[in-house]
Amino acid sequence: MCGIVGYIGGKKAAPILLEGLAKLEYRGYDSAGIAVRDGEGKPTIVKSQGKLAVLSEKTNGGDSVKGQCGIGHTRWATHGEPSKINAHPHHTDDDNVVGVHNGIIENYKELQEKLLRHDYKFYSETDTEVVIKLIDYYYKKYNMGPIDALAKTMVRVRGSYALVVMFADYPGEIYVARKDSPMILGLGEGENFIASDVPAILKYTRKVQYIGNLEMGRVTKDGVTFFDLNGDEIEKKVEEIEWDTEAAEKGGYEHFMMKEIHEQPKVVEDTIRSFITGEEGAYKVNLTECGITDDLIKKCSAIHIVACGSAYHVGVTAQYVFEDLARIPVRVELASEFRYRNPILDKNALVIIISQSGETADSLAALREAKDRGIPTLAIVNVVGSSIAREADYVCYTLAGPEIAVATTKAYSTQLIVNYLLAIQFSLVRDMIDDSRVNELITDMLTIPAKIEKVIEDKERLQWFAAKFANAKDVFFIGRGIDYAICLEGSLKMKEISYVHSEAYAAGELKHGTISLIEDGVLVIGVATQSTLYEKLISNMVEVQSRGAYLMGLTTYGSYDLEDTANFTVYVPKTDEHFTTSVAIVALQLLGYYLAVARGLDVDKPRNLAKSVTVE
Ligand code: M6R
Repeated sequence: MCGIVGYIGGKKAAPILLEGLAKLEYRGYDSAGIAVRDGEGKPTIVKSQGKLAVLSEKTNGGDSVKGQCGIGHTRWATHGEPSKINAHPHHTDDDNVVGVHNGIIENYKELQEKLLRHDYKFYSETDTEVVIKLIDYYYKKYNMGPIDALAKTMVRVRGSYALVVMFADYPGEIYVARKDSPMILGLGEGENFIASDVPAILKYTRKVQYIGNLEMGRVTKDGVTFFDLNGDEIEKKVEEIEWDTEAAEKGGYEHFMMKEIHEQPKVVEDTIRSFITGEEGAYKVNLTECGITDDLIKKCSAIHIVACGSAYHVGVTAQYVFEDLARIPVRVELASEFRYRNPILDKNALVIIISQSGETADSLAALREAKDRGIPTLAIVNVVGSSIAREADYVCYTLAGPEIAVATTKAYSTQLIVNYLLAIQFSLVRDMIDDSRVNELITDMLTIPAKIEKVIEDKERLQWFAAKFANAKDVFFIGRGIDYAICLEGSLKMKEISYVHSEAYAAGELKHGTISLIEDGVLVIGVATQSTLYEKLISNMVEVQSRGAYLMGLTTYGSYDLEDTANFTVYVPKTDEHFTTSVAIVALQLLGYYLAVARGLDVDKPRNLAKSVTVE
């Protein structure tokens, strides 16, 4: 969840570290720090509470810190409040070891007690300080060098970590170690980089090497050497990142979120096209790249979709689409629940993990749980080479490109697309539909990008409406079927960035308790894109209206009856009803965005949140 950057080479390290951290600030932003070494001297450590700008100001953009080898960190607090003392890097009293860490050390209390018995002192409340001092302890006790000290530490700690460490005796080297927290090594000419995520190093290099679980690395300006836990060297291939630098910049938009909303038509189209073949009139789904065969689909007895947050909401839409098109039982579950509930999984089932980052701790654990039970796993992932992508049996990549805003928009939209295409293929292979229906559905999907564009073009109405409700305290989203799935995501978009309390309810549930919350002036947003459920939803809207609710309706062009009931109606273009989430959600993304802007909030970095939740 925190951001990590390291640099070693011929240039001044601090400005590069700060620049890299700025690209990662979406991962965590309650405090930040850097440690830079200038030859054999002690490292210069500068830390500050608050956003990165404070640290940048303190160091004059890094210019006032000398040295060509350094590490940096933006923090999202897990152990200990956001403060300068808890900010990373942490170091030993004699500066023998200084390091940054992403993840959680579960047994840090027990390790701290051990270290206290060996006269170590602790100043912060963090688990990181403990792990840094434990490395120092093993380094001094066995006197066998950094790799040995790291390996001994890794065997001793429980939890997850991406560790980046400098040792006083090794001035031209940075050491890394990883378990269950993301980290990549970027390779330059006479310089090398370490980062927890690609955007931090894209400006400098696209050549990367991935460090695996329970592996370590020694990084010098000339290269990276990898080691396993026994200290034996491991060979790694060099891979190429295809994302371009521009994709990770704001490109004239005020916020990344708005830029990413605007990118949706393109990334949705790119994703559709990457999974289809054939000409107009004879389109087919092509899953060859993911390795999903007809045989696997035929044998499949049930699908378990497992994910967190918005990716889980994609799963809720997918459940309706899969079951309706392919007539296969689908269960969608939160990864944090799945991993601990001892799920009953048929050996012919398929577990689908959906994740933008490919690093979400609960989703990764759910994937491992399924694999341990011998169930085939398919990952729908955006970040190439991420842990989930590497560990799943089959991978379908979404082509959303780098998503920086904490609130997902374009990754969510591309995840929907992959699910639709899978559902279509399942339906065909299981003889529920024929080739001509496949072509019809894909042809309809190919109209989605232009329809998203149309929703974005009408954004001013939503901006006006959001400003009117800028002081709202509670908002309720109601819908049935796929519209309920849209509500879940619309509500999350609103609350995560605008801090307005909002809830999504299956409209039929209102009378079972929720309706007592409705009082004069409360905003209720009714989503009604499904023709068979349209009348029923209008009835539910009337029920809340008669208890004082102010009604916003969201429906498709042509369904004008809603206007007789709703106080404000938003229309989006019609698609095949299986795919309406893709178009309708854009209006709710815009509503959430404009509400946050109207409330003067930091849209891209909402409080308490991090882009990728790599700890439990
Ligand atoms: O990287 P992932 O897709 O696994 O992340 C899952 C959730 O953390 C993520 O969707 C989160 O809910 C977003 N902030 C929602 O906008």
